Amino acid sequence: MSDKKDQGLARGLTNYGDRDFSVYLRNSFASSMGYSKEVLKKPIVGIANSFSGFNNCHRHFPELVEAVKRGVLLGGGLPIEFPTISLGEVYLNPTSLKFRNLMSMDTEEMIRAQPMDAVVLLGGCDKTVPAQLMGAASADLPAVQLVAGPMMTSRYQEERLGACTDCRRFWGKFRAGEISKDQIEDIEGRLATTSGTCAVMGTASTMACISETLGMSLPGTAAIPAVHADRLRAAEASGLAAARMIDHPIRPSEVITEKSVENAVRMLLAVGGSTNAIVHLTAVAGRLGIKIPLSRLNDLSDTTPVLVNLKPVGQHYMEDFFFAGGAGAVLRELKPLLHLDTPTVAGITLGDRLEQDPGYVDHRIISKAATPLEPKGGLVALFGNLAPRGAILKRSAADSTLFEKEGRAVVFTSLEDLAKRVDDPDLDIAPDDFMVLQNAGPKSASGMPEAGYLPIPKKLSSMGVKDMVRISDARMSGTAFGTIVLHVAPEASVGGPLALVRDGDRIRLSVAEKSINLLVDDDELARRREAWQPVNVPPEARRGYDRLYAETVLQADAGCDFDFLQPLGSTDD
Ligand code: FES
Repeated sequence: MSDKKDQGLARGLTNYGDRDFSVYLRNSFASSMGYSKEVLKKPIVGIANSFSGFNNCHRHFPELVEAVKRGVLLGGGLPIEFPTISLGEVYLNPTSLKFRNLMSMDTEEMIRAQPMDAVVLLGGCDKTVPAQLMGAASADLPAVQLVAGPMMTSRYQEERLGACTDCRRFWGKFRAGEISKDQIEDIEGRLATTSGTCAVMGTASTMACISETLGMSLPGTAAIPAVHADRLRAAEASGLAAARMIDHPIRPSEVITEKSVENAVRMLLAVGGSTNAIVHLTAVAGRLGIKIPLSRLNDLSDTTPVLVNLKPVGQHYMEDFFFAGGAGAVLRELKPLLHLDTPTVAGITLGDRLEQDPGYVDHRIISKAATPLEPKGGLVALFGNLAPRGAILKRSAADSTLFEKEGRAVVFTSLEDLAKRVDDPDLDIAPDDFMVLQNAGPKSASGMPEAGYLPIPKKLSSMGVKDMVRISDARMSGTAFGTIVLHVAPEASVGGPLALVRDGDRIRLSVAEKSINLLVDDDELARRREAWQPVNVPPEARRGYDRLYAETVLQADAGCDFDFLQPLGSTDD
């Protein structure tokens, strides 16, 4: 690899008003780290490391970083690791989504401000991969995404366990009184037992498959378990690929295109992936001015089969998916539906990659396109007077007997109201009712938490009720399941129609018609709108990042990015 004048440490100089002085000072300070002059002339591959003691999923990153460095050195570059903030899903209050945009800004600005010629992005836990892809897309420096890889499963007695679908399954059993306190405590210690991301097709694994499909991760790397030696080889290869892109740059703006985004939506649908992923992919694409209208999601959903039999939709776990052929096997099945001329950071197109892929596939885990698990995709967007800008239902994780249904609304006006009343024995609720949660959207104080998986009230769960129609402007964990209508837009906090629902109203859900409607006449709705008062603290009464968030976050259908992070003139909000 050539050592060029404008590469490596000579890039993006600190401004002292004297260029030569800036070079001299930077070299002298860099020398203090023990680098030789020869090494300091090398082009630099940055390694954006989102390791944190508050992120169990990234516990193995120190070892991965060493492997990435090895790859960069093999490619003739100088690897330099730098930290960014990390988002450990279960450690953040009120919810990790609130900090995704902050991490994307950190990533973008540190890529831009520091002297590097390419970058490897080390992320994995739910929001970290979209944050890194968003930041890299905006910085537009050649970048390779390396994901953490999924956790291995564990066991409780004769049952196989994997975070976090089984976390919810056992918690549901505990709430229903089917297992004891001692048992749930025992299970608590067995759900997540290795490094890596959740063991099912939750948000992290969905985003890993999306990144590979976009072409931002190396082929075959999305599903490798965190603790497998192949994960270290993938890290080495990612470092090498990033180093190669210094002389042959492939920028995120060349990789993330309308075509590759459409391929990624098909992947999301075929794996029965997380509802969060549509928000994240919309945000990533939005950084390059690419839109994913929810109506387009429906078109793609109607023509993309569900192929992957993984929890939370199916039966198996990510390690099974890896051994069954991983994302490559899904892409081969989807091949006739894909744009094959999309570039990848490996320097080959998706089509080339699929030609080169080994042919093995375990059809117990990954179905043939001709005999899919479901003929239509896992997600569907619903529209109607309750969600004029759309709402999302993960139909593959829902109870189809509830798909065409009218029900009575039981309304919770906030998360606090839900917590206070959901298990009240006097709560007026029946299995056929629709539970409605308001004020949990992006601009609410709670920042759109994964609270859309409303718990079944104890008085019903103890009778054996396992699913009900639940509607909110919140999100749902990628590892959760149920007939749950999410991301209602506009949200209640800004006066969307969801804010106007009252106890006893009738709501009609039709998955066949892709509709969700509040059966209240227009005059009454107008009266309610007139009387509506926001319940949240207004943005001007907030401070710091919380205020920035409340003032600039976009609605769910626009990816919950900040308006000022999108290309100028590209937002409708
Ligand atoms: Fe990190 Fe689930 S907690 S991916």
